[in-house]
Amino acid sequence: MFSKEVYVNRRANLAKKVKSGVMLFMGNSDIGMNYPSNTYRFRQDSSFLYFFGLDEPDLAAVIDADSGEEILFGNDVSIDDIIWMGPQPAMTDKAAQVGVKKVLPYSSLEEYIAKIKSSSKKVHYLPPYRDNIKIAINKMLGIDFPAIKEGASQDMIRAVVSLREIKERCEIEEMDNAANIGYMMHYTAMKMVKPGIVEQELVGIMEGISISNGTMPSFPIILSQNGETLHNHSHHQILTDGRLLVIDAGAETNSHYASDFTRTLPSGGKFTSRQRDIYTIVSTANNLAIDMIRPGITYREVHLAAVRVLAQGLINIGLMKGDVDEAVAAGAHALFMPHGLGHQMGLDVHDMEDLGENFVGYSDNFIRATQFGLRSLRMGKELKPGHVITVEPGCYFIPALIEKWKSEGTNSNFINFDKLEGYYNFGGIRLEDDVLVTEKGCRLLGSKRLPITVEDVELEMSGN
Ligand code: GLY
Ligand code: MN
Repeated sequence: MFSKEVYVNRRANLAKKVKSGVMLFMGNSDIGMNYPSNTYRFRQDSSFLYFFGLDEPDLAAVIDADSGEEILFGNDVSIDDIIWMGPQPAMTDKAAQVGVKKVLPYSSLEEYIAKIKSSSKKVHYLPPYRDNIKIAINKMLGIDFPAIKEGASQDMIRAVVSLREIKERCEIEEMDNAANIGYMMHYTAMKMVKPGIVEQELVGIMEGISISNGTMPSFPIILSQNGETLHNHSHHQILTDGRLLVIDAGAETNSHYASDFTRTLPSGGKFTSRQRDIYTIVSTANNLAIDMIRPGITYREVHLAAVRVLAQGLINIGLMKGDVDEAVAAGAHALFMPHGLGHQMGLDVHDMEDLGENFVGYSDNFIRATQFGLRSLRMGKELKPGHVITVEPGCYFIPALIEKWKSEGTNSNFINFDKLEGYYNFGGIRLEDDVLVTEKGCRLLGSKRLPITVEDVELEMSGN
């Protein structure tokens, strides 16, 4: 937790932006995994954490933007709780840690909201993503379930995004820390990769490092020799010489800030010449994107420059053809990179995605594209100092997608489909780094960059 002034200032800034009405923040609760008291690891709601700092279940809070009143709703523990969980600070002490003066029992939230509703004041809430919160909103505000998402307050969403997306100094320290844990996870795996190891062994070690140094991985670890499946969570394969291993993983610190890195390693320690060619195209795109990142440029421009490198590289080796700019304009490169260049990151690995991707990555004047590939770019808008973004170009050979485009004739003037048949077992390559936009340009998060050149990766793996 940060100092109480951090939370007091954030709430004051939010109230100024939203101007009127009561903002409701619903904290998360424990959720039963297979029976009620065997729960998933608790994860607080990120906006609740950002404004109220308290990392425990069964809390809610309100900010009255007109009067400035702030109330935390939660219960003091009973003797039964103390027997099972040990002594806990009083709610008033917890509230004081984050500068909130008024505390009420959780059960009085409903009555409080009913009173606000019966006055002419608006109740602002953020889009809920958990069913128990949807049920609570339905009960308190009388909004039908299908209308709950639409009924979320756009004023509150925009205000929250505008604050959370510009990282404060204390947050950047945390994100450097998250990056350093992510580095340890990847570097350890890089030193273990060799034929005969099962993917799952690496996942376990990496997850252990994240838990030893923070709370957990920032998302379920993606680790697979079938890297052409973008988010592959099956980890049963035995590493085999000649194949590529995509590892996409990051850590969440104790205060829940995320990192997110991807490296692609040769399972046998040496890239084949064909793998090296594709790898070099992707690493060139990654480096070019990082070189371009600065305030004022849109991330869509950076994305388009990166995919241009991809398309040009694929033209050079004969997998694509034609004019590179026409190919990119047509979206032909998206056969090989159907996703976006990156996303914002902070308390969530895809920061604030629960609030709506378009509120985070786009604006009223900067609308998301609809073209295949480009439409998957989560962050497109202009970059500002304090933004944290990922840079994650990739190149994948997805047999089902290639076959579909081939049979439809999609972009056949830019793709050499016949040559692609030899790549159906190639897998995929993705290379991801985490970047802070600074006043003049950008810098990588973390103390050290994970090895990324072909030479450095092979050198690191040479003793495996
Ligand atoms: N690194 C996983 C993702 O960004 O979706
Ligand atoms: Mn990512």
